[in-house]
Amino acid sequence: MTAEDRQSDWNPADATLSVPERLAQMAAMRAKCPVAYTDHLGGQWSVLRYADIVKVTGDIETFGNLSRRPRWGEALPPVEADPPLHTEYRRLLQKFFTPPRIAALEPRMRKASIDLLTPIIARRHGDLALEFSYPLPVLALCALLGIPETDWATIKKLAETTLLIDSESEEERAQAKRDHEAILDYAQAMVADRQKHPRNPDTDIPTAILQADIEGKGVEKCAAILRLMIAAGHNSTTSAIGNAMLHLASHGDDQERLRRDPKLIPTAVEEFLRFDTPVQEMPRYARRDAELHGRQIQEGDKLGLFFGAANRDEAAFPEPDRCIIDRKPNRHLAFGSGIHTCLGAPLARMEARVALEELLGRTKSFSITGEVVRPRYHRMGVTSLPVAIEA
Ligand code: HEM
Repeated sequence: MTAEDRQSDWNPADATLSVPERLAQMAAMRAKCPVAYTDHLGGQWSVLRYADIVKVTGDIETFGNLSRRPRWGEALPPVEADPPLHTEYRRLLQKFFTPPRIAALEPRMRKASIDLLTPIIARRHGDLALEFSYPLPVLALCALLGIPETDWATIKKLAETTLLIDSESEEERAQAKRDHEAILDYAQAMVADRQKHPRNPDTDIPTAILQADIEGKGVEKCAAILRLMIAAGHNSTTSAIGNAMLHLASHGDDQERLRRDPKLIPTAVEEFLRFDTPVQEMPRYARRDAELHGRQIQEGDKLGLFFGAANRDEAAFPEPDRCIIDRKPNRHLAFGSGIHTCLGAPLARMEARVALEELLGRTKSFSITGEVVRPRYHRMGVTSLPVAIEA
């Protein structure tokens, strides 16, 4: 390895960039430096092209998810685990995400969507991000994990701050750690409760985790898995629904098309996920020396897989910068690829579909009336979407 190899090629964590500027920055790097080194984000190789990410996620002998220094101190499976343990954790959780399980949650999601939308539609205006896409996914998570719905706001707030763990600000990183500990405490209390009062392990995730026979899985690890599940997926689903509503609020023709043809909604959801990828980046760690596009990667090095950049790769998608709601095929990487492909994808897809079905079905049109606020790196979502509604 030469000294030049470790010179920073870019700063993907630049919080001053707007979403279009960030996309332009990634497009430029994808073209000229597809495996770029950065000394931000803890020092990492950023992998930006679609084909390279598929290659890395498919080569688990070379690239793993388990860091030598897990960011939270303790590794949180299944995402922070490698085979063979990853396979066991995944098997344990998979049965809660089968089509019948997801279908069983759908009526609750539909009711939650209607309850949230009714007052917004009645007053003919509101903030669809704040009032609708923010709470909906955490309500799904409460239903999934057996968490009282009254705790949703606390859980959502804590989970949001944990996303600041890669922030450039020391204060924000410290806050992320404190809130991680708070979620861990919450998970530990759930585990302690199920130790005393076990529920049916076929329907209750905390009991299933506690009773699973996995080598080296003590009570602490149970809390760590539950900690991951508590914070998993609802911020990204919030972003997915927010991004979809943002597109529709600013493209009346697509809005009208989906209202006329609701069967197209699932296809459109895939395109919204590709176009504005909620989870922009996930890490990998080199398990041995490797070479990618001439860059020398050493055992132990961190890599950042830029799913968002790959989803705009012109080598994988024609007209990648257009959001084409009936795009097919659409083999996007919003849920990752390989053995860690998102476990919650069927739940997220159902939530997004139900949210859009209800929003479109109950309104004649909605359009933006004020400033749209989008969060900074590395989230890709919408935090404020003020709209006027015709119903
Ligand atoms: C639109 C919403 C979502 C997006 C964009 C998303 C994205 C992702 C991505 C990109 C990964 C791959 C991580 C990697 O390769 O290192 C992942 C993994 C995971 N996701 Fe999601 N996710 C979403 C919703 C959910 C939901 C609702 C849940 C659960 C309630 C969930 C649970 C998980 C879990 C447990 C993993 C780890 C899987 C493994 O390591 O085998 N996700 N997600």
